[in-house]
Amino acid sequence: MNKKHQLVKGFSKQSKAGKLEWVANTYSQNPDATVADMKSFWHADEKLQKVLDGFSENTISNYMMPYGIAPNFIINDKMYAVPMVIEESSVVAAAASAAKYWSTKGGFKAEILGTKKVGQVHFSWKGNSEKLKTHFKDIKAILRHDTQPITQNMQKRGGGILDIELLDFTEVEADYYQLRATFETCDSMGANFINSVLEAFGQSLKMYVLENENFQGEEEELTIIMAILSNYTPECVVRAWVECPIEAFNINGKDNSAFAKKFEKAVKIARLDPYRATTHNKGIFNGIDAVVLATANDFRAIEACGHAYAARDGQYRSLSQCEIKDGKFRFWLDIPLAVGTVGGLTSLHPLAKRTLEILGNPSAEELMQIIAVVGLAQNFAALRSLVTTGIQKGHMKMHMQNILNHLGANDMEAKQALIYFEDKPISFTAVRTYINTIRTTLV
Ligand code: MEV
Repeated sequence: MNKKHQLVKGFSKQSKAGKLEWVANTYSQNPDATVADMKSFWHADEKLQKVLDGFSENTISNYMMPYGIAPNFIINDKMYAVPMVIEESSVVAAAASAAKYWSTKGGFKAEILGTKKVGQVHFSWKGNSEKLKTHFKDIKAILRHDTQPITQNMQKRGGGILDIELLDFTEVEADYYQLRATFETCDSMGANFINSVLEAFGQSLKMYVLENENFQGEEEELTIIMAILSNYTPECVVRAWVECPIEAFNINGKDNSAFAKKFEKAVKIARLDPYRATTHNKGIFNGIDAVVLATANDFRAIEACGHAYAARDGQYRSLSQCEIKDGKFRFWLDIPLAVGTVGGLTSLHPLAKRTLEILGNPSAEELMQIIAVVGLAQNFAALRSLVTTGIQKGHMKMHMQNILNHLGANDMEAKQALIYFEDKPISFTAVRTYINTIRTTLV
């Protein structure tokens, strides 16, 4: 049988070089070149490479992404240069351009609407639900007491457990209940803290029904199905906005109220049509994910939560909103962002540490504001292009360099191509044809 189709045994126990060789020998047409490519991205500093390898499992190389800077962000009257990690061309340029645009109009504003995180213990219990509810006050005190060793440090920092509720789902699912707890986790994202507390809640809950004499027979048995934080945090939300008199909302210095109206309409369309809303919000997450990645926060959690929030009234809608009223243009974004500036990878990843330094070592709340502002800026830049020139002009210009690299264009060819395509539509085929033409002409 072809090696590709055989199960591999003990892969995780092999050395890094062994894993790389096995993958290359089994799956590559040119194993030596694959090994060489993968190895060329190993960090020269072995100690640092070990740290990077330790973030995940079965690592054979590092995957590089561009780390860019969007300068000139004025947020609550403070100037930031924002690091962004993203592979898509135009995103950083668009953010920088939106930052500059709003810098002459008072900059961006942001405020925290809430910082509550959520966790759940899902359990089954057979018995009279009223009895469980009657005892819940007592249970709650025990849960808080039993988790003191885990919560005391967080409490010292001003956080901890905020509340614990018992939710009865037995009408929709037999014997199913839930503990839903809320937490304040200060500057940490809090996933480990919350999950440890929840698992301890589960143990205490089980013990309570077992040991309390009011619970007898099958009531003494409680099954913990799972204990895990919820990535849906609709009360850990930040608002970012920009506003200016309508006359100041112009393009290239020209007063353009038609532009403002088109812009407002574009946002309204994304509020009412999920097909457009998905693309609109994708544009917002272009900015958000890039900063979240640069700080080594969990972008999957941020995305999952953001999309659930966008559908909170039952229909998936734009996360941003726009209003032209009383002579003012106002554009804003409410978004849940559970991020941390301590713990997790934020201080372990050497570049995440640098990102936080560049941002002035913000608190988690300040970081939420920065991230939301970049999301709004990104959305602003995308809509500005869409309702005026269209997105492809700027995008393809940025993409041009990728096309030229792909075609292996030298400096002279690239220079000529950039001049030639200044006033022409750019596509891969058009650039390839042009490069081929100048190559054959020069021969
Ligand atoms: C592309 O990555 C993002 C946009 O499609 C967003 C939008 O349409 O609003 C340009």
